Amino acid sequence: GKYRVISTKPMPGTRWINLLIDQDCRLEICTQKKTILSVEDIIALIGEKCDGVIGQLTEDWGEVLFSALSRAGGKAFSNMAVGYNNVDVNAATKYGVSVGNTPGVLTETTAELAASLSVAAARRIVEADEFMRAGLYDGWLPHLFVGNLLKGQTVGVIGAGRIGSAYARMMVISLTLLTYGEFLKANGEQPVTWKRAATMEEVLREADLISLHPILDKTTYHLINKERLSIMKKEAILVNCSRGPVVDEVALVEHLKENPMFRVGLDVFEDEPYMKPGLADMKNAIVVPHIASASKWTREGMATLAALNVLGKIKGYPIWSNPNQVEPFLNENSPPPA
Ligand code: GLV
Ligand code: GLV
Repeated sequence: GKYRVISTKPMPGTRWINLLIDQDCRLEICTQKKTILSVEDIIALIGEKCDGVIGQLTEDWGEVLFSALSRAGGKAFSNMAVGYNNVDVNAATKYGVSVGNTPGVLTETTAELAASLSVAAARRIVEADEFMRAGLYDGWLPHLFVGNLLKGQTVGVIGAGRIGSAYARMMVISLTLLTYGEFLKANGEQPVTWKRAATMEEVLREADLISLHPILDKTTYHLINKERLSIMKKEAILVNCSRGPVVDEVALVEHLKENPMFRVGLDVFEDEPYMKPGLADMKNAIVVPHIASASKWTREGMATLAALNVLGKIKGYPIWSNPNQVEPFLNENSPPPA
């Protein structure tokens, strides 16, 4: 291979591997056992010559790494994620490195997890499962695990871009939808009642179930804080499949303690892989380890898209999909790029 390409992690499927090696690339896949690679680990991987890197959302792609990649002759970096809060795009630009991400292929999978957490939280499924396994079930009772009926309730979506809009389409069981942020119509489908909120506070006050789908940047850091939690309904459900720091997790733990009927479904955390103290003890929280995009089709599609981003740039084309791209590259009916 003429071009040296590094993937900081093994990724699902083989299509992405074949794509690269069929096109003159010598691919090196880091198989270190360590889950999260440090900046130093990645500098060592980049070495003296490296044309492009496929990296992960757990890695800190800033000045240090982009200058190292640039010194090694690298021109392309792709995050294997749609979110790119771990990437300093300005630093990449400064060092002449193009950045790609992997939108589109994970839209439906991520929305499906948010919908699953919504229903699971409403019907207390995880709590009930734990109860059953602990051998505590000794007969049907009128009060046992009474939860919320979603039909007829108002679902709030904050950040109604690709993922939030797909989630909204799945949640039509609730009948009323209140969105804040740009709403993308999927296949022309519309909820029975759909209102655009003028402010985020309106969604927080009125919705019975709220799902968060913004990107993480300076404007959305701690978007959900103590004050905003306090205006939500006492029995509301909050779902977060975006990025952990969008929610002030310490304030959330306090809120869960003070409001036992308030429930959350969380896929992401402020200091992954850690949870803030107390969260793991809260019965009114469902917590899963950042698995929103974890379906086979999606993860293979993300790997393929990341490889195409890097390959395209190396071959002299514009980066395949980049963080500034507004329109989805793929929609839910498209296969992963071949
Ligand atoms: C996953 O969290 C992603 O941003 O793709
Ligand atoms: C519950 O199982 C019922 O029959 O109402």
